[in-house]
Amino acid sequence: MIQVAVFGYGTVGSGVVEVIERNNSYVSANSGDKVNVKYILDLREFPGDPYESKLVHDVETIINDDEVSICCETMGGVGAAYKFTKMALEKGKSVCSSNKELVAKHGAELMRVAKEHGCAYLFEASVGGGIPILRNLTTALTAERITQIAGILNGTTNFILTRMEEDGADFDETLKKAQELGYAEKDPTADIEGHDTARKISILSDIMSGHFTDSDAVRTTGITGVTSKDITMAKEAGYSIRLLGIANRYDDDSVSTMVAPFLVKKSHPLAGVRDVFNAIYVTGNMLGETMYYGKGAGKLATASAVVADVIDAARKGSSTMYQGWDETPVKAASVSDMKYKYYVRCLDDKFDDVQAAFPGGCRIGKFGGESGFVTEEISGSDFEEKCSKLGDAVANSIRIYE
Ligand code: HSE
Repeated sequence: MIQVAVFGYGTVGSGVVEVIERNNSYVSANSGDKVNVKYILDLREFPGDPYESKLVHDVETIINDDEVSICCETMGGVGAAYKFTKMALEKGKSVCSSNKELVAKHGAELMRVAKEHGCAYLFEASVGGGIPILRNLTTALTAERITQIAGILNGTTNFILTRMEEDGADFDETLKKAQELGYAEKDPTADIEGHDTARKISILSDIMSGHFTDSDAVRTTGITGVTSKDITMAKEAGYSIRLLGIANRYDDDSVSTMVAPFLVKKSHPLAGVRDVFNAIYVTGNMLGETMYYGKGAGKLATASAVVADVIDAARKGSSTMYQGWDETPVKAASVSDMKYKYYVRCLDDKFDDVQAAFPGGCRIGKFGGESGFVTEEISGSDFEEKCSKLGDAVANSIRIYE
């Protein structure tokens, strides 16, 4: 019998229990032995819950039970989750996590601790929810030098942007709906301000580069500055607006990481990723582009990835570990040097000033007394300098991903 404990009985934790119970015949057959949830750790009571009898409030009960070989950490945060994960690993219990904040901050250390204790620290669910992206990067794409990873990595913001574009829906109302559907973080700031995406792109950058990427250092802009005017202007010109996390790797092995809304041409596969779906667009030097697509948030999709890690840990123990990264910081390249075309929105009577500042650009539309304009390719620092000279002539600007 493979005895499992679940840390945190929230949306994902309860999903993990449900996947193990409902799919038990597959989960057990694939693990090579019967898988059973022995404990659920949570401070709260769940009167009447079908698994109430498994509830414990004290992590020591789990840590000191030698029958438990695998723990699922679905608590979130970097406080108790870090402490409990380390305690479990130090006891030789593998930990399977959906906690991107913890993986982004302490992943390298926790993988090292796991290695030292002959167990595994696995976290497929931390990036892209149910999409098997970490496994693909660390198994199927190992012959590649990955040069860029660009992803729609947050279901909540993609849901909001899609509904605003397709239904003309209101931002706040759509955010509320995403929260009701269990997509959004407890505090939606992490979603809408891009921090959740920053954690996920930093994990992808860690894997791509083999070194630690500080998620707090990722240049991050969320979607709160995107207005319905921008969405309409972009739509009329054949673009969708998507929040992208992008990691670029250069010849000298430096990496630039950023999170920002981008205009994406409707013909690009990332523009077709709608609602809560996520996609990760990976460029390798031999293979070219591949895209990995699926449900990036939600109870059962995310839980399915956690349970796949449980099966992996059960079958392969410590040898299952993803090709990790070390604790030395990656050589950071400046995002300001990166060149993009920019969409600029301005009042019609300021259009000539904008055109004069960006002579290689062109108008892409006119709407409600304002004009949309696309610049030539320009570095971030040059663009900012020109915009500061234009002052309030620029109502908004968004990069274009091509
Ligand atoms: N809040 C996250 C999202 C959950 O919306 O994608 C999955 O990490």
